[in-house]
Amino acid sequence: MSNKPAKGDRAQWASSLGFILAAAGSAVGLGNIWKFPGKAYEGGGGVYILTYILIVILIGATAMIAELTVGRATQKNAVGAFRVLAPRWKWVGGLGVFTGFVILGYYTQVGGWVLQYITAYLVRPEEVYGDPQRFFLNQVLGADRFPLAGAFLFPLLFIACVVLVIVHGVEGGIERFNKLAMPALFLLLLVLLGRSVTLPGADAGLRYLLSFDFSALNGSVLLSALGQAFYSLSLGMGIMCTYGSYVKRTENLGKNTAMICSLDTLVALIAAFIVIPAVFATGVEPGKGASFAFVSLAGVFERMPLGSFFGVIFYTLLFFAALTSAISLLEGTVAYLTEEKGLPRTRATVLTAAGMFCIGVLYTLSQVHFNIRGVWLDGASGLSFPAFGDFLEYLTDRLMTPLGALAYCVFVGWVWGPKQAVAEIEQEGVRFPLAKPWAVLVKYVVPAAIVVILFAGMVMGLTLS
Ligand code: TRP
Repeated sequence: MSNKPAKGDRAQWASSLGFILAAAGSAVGLGNIWKFPGKAYEGGGGVYILTYILIVILIGATAMIAELTVGRATQKNAVGAFRVLAPRWKWVGGLGVFTGFVILGYYTQVGGWVLQYITAYLVRPEEVYGDPQRFFLNQVLGADRFPLAGAFLFPLLFIACVVLVIVHGVEGGIERFNKLAMPALFLLLLVLLGRSVTLPGADAGLRYLLSFDFSALNGSVLLSALGQAFYSLSLGMGIMCTYGSYVKRTENLGKNTAMICSLDTLVALIAAFIVIPAVFATGVEPGKGASFAFVSLAGVFERMPLGSFFGVIFYTLLFFAALTSAISLLEGTVAYLTEEKGLPRTRATVLTAAGMFCIGVLYTLSQVHFNIRGVWLDGASGLSFPAFGDFLEYLTDRLMTPLGALAYCVFVGWVWGPKQAVAEIEQEGVRFPLAKPWAVLVKYVVPAAIVVILFAGMVMGLTLS
């Protein structure tokens, strides 16, 4: 018998490992590898890490359970789920699909840049080392020429990989790919970790990450950790709702959530233990975001033995991290278009990919415009006005993601009700011993925390990174 679902049947993950790896693949992304280490550095090392872990356990995992249960209970995409449970909440699904669409545009461009860097470190690392900043500005963003490679060819290659996986379906495409990509990602992480911590002078970085100076903890660090947790766990966009809708009723959603959150946090921690010791050892300024990953890190690779080899490994790691997240983002929109609008899967995939590719190109082009004015590389403090790309990032990461996560928690806590959610989790002999504390968290603690992030995001705007 074929194990393909019969027509009309919904796709499902074949195994719980497959689901956990796919969801972890969505969560593990650029946020873990280029944002988290810089934030851990700014936030004072060990204190930040400890705070972050507590936030993930109390707040992130709570919100993830909420999103996953909505998906599994309804067996629907992000919009369809609300259509079934409470049509007045459909906008939450729509907001998620839209946010995912925009983030995917950005991810595709950065994924393309990563491919361009893999190529550069393979064939002509001297060119990057010679003037890393100029390489990034001119060769990638196209400050002095039309950015054919950085904005079109490499991103096209990246999105083609995403499309190829998605057209093969949930089990045959997403699950199968993540089962290969996630172990590969861990292997690359371990290779880099081994290299970084054995560099002469790396111990200063290790000591920094293991130092607990509690005076470093303040409101803005706390907020940045809270925002990072939502972003890193891919919450608020209905992606976990969509992935949850493919989970079998026999699966334990509580345990699976614990696994997904642990894997995501583990990758972020390893990334910090790679990046911080390496920057301490080579005397490069720690930082985060695109200018750090594509410009500053060149100094690290240049100064380490076999640097260009480790450069290739590092950008390959970023490639896998970005790819598995982009896959989940595309699936979110494709699930919506196929189920709600009746589009065939392949057509929905290609149309969505083409649409977001166009938005994404604007992202790179706007960076160029911004760079020509010479303000972009000054870091966050130098930002005087946002480029289109920064504006989109602000909108998605600072406003729409927390708003989406808030909506899911308020919906589950107050409209659908924790009782219904717990009943959905506790089926087929599955027990959820943390049902009571979870209900309190989802009703009160998490919404309150998100409201604070939202306000801070609006008030502090772009300076809050
Ligand atoms: N979690 C991803 C990261 O750490 C970013 C992200 C946020 C995301 N929301 C998402 C990825 C939704 C896929 C789907 O980089």
